[in-house]
Amino acid sequence: MSNQQLNSIGLESNQAQELITRLNDLLANYQLFYQNTRGFHWNIKGEKFFELHIKFEELYNDLQLKIDEIAERILTLGGVPLHTFMKYAEQSEIKAVENVSDGITAVQSTLDSFQKLLIKQRSLLSLSGEADDEGTNALMSDYIREQEKLVWMYNSYATHSGS
Ligand SMILES: [Fe+2]
Repeated sequence: MSNQQLNSIGLESNQAQELITRLNDLLANYQLFYQNTRGFHWNIKGEKFFELHIKFEELYNDLQLKIDEIAERILTLGGVPLHTFMKYAEQSEIKAVENVSDGITAVQSTLDSFQKLLIKQRSLLSLSGEADDEGTNALMSDYIREQEKLVWMYNSYATHSGS
């Protein structure tokens, strides 16, 4: 470890670089999820409109905060956050969802996106643990705990409304 090159916050440079790459992947996925959620907020129709319109606004506001935190973590680690729609669309595993007005379809898509994010964040949690990167580790840990709870709630909603 003593011969390894360190970055400005004392993390091993190669490990920091890997974390930057993986955080940029996460950022791209958050951006697509964010825009999908705005689409749901706008286009949702039916008897659950008022409920879901507000819920999706709550969600995209939270995603926007996390997007900024992830991008600034990338900068803190010495990287450059992806910042163009082109790169986001290219790199994101979460794909753009168009013209969804049905509440259950929107909630299912949201659950699917959370699952993708949770898998990526757990992998970042262990990678940042190995790199002694407490900053990224704590961030991932918070996101995982918060979003696992949201999955329970969105699941309960989808189950009730769908049956
Ligand atoms: Fe609005």
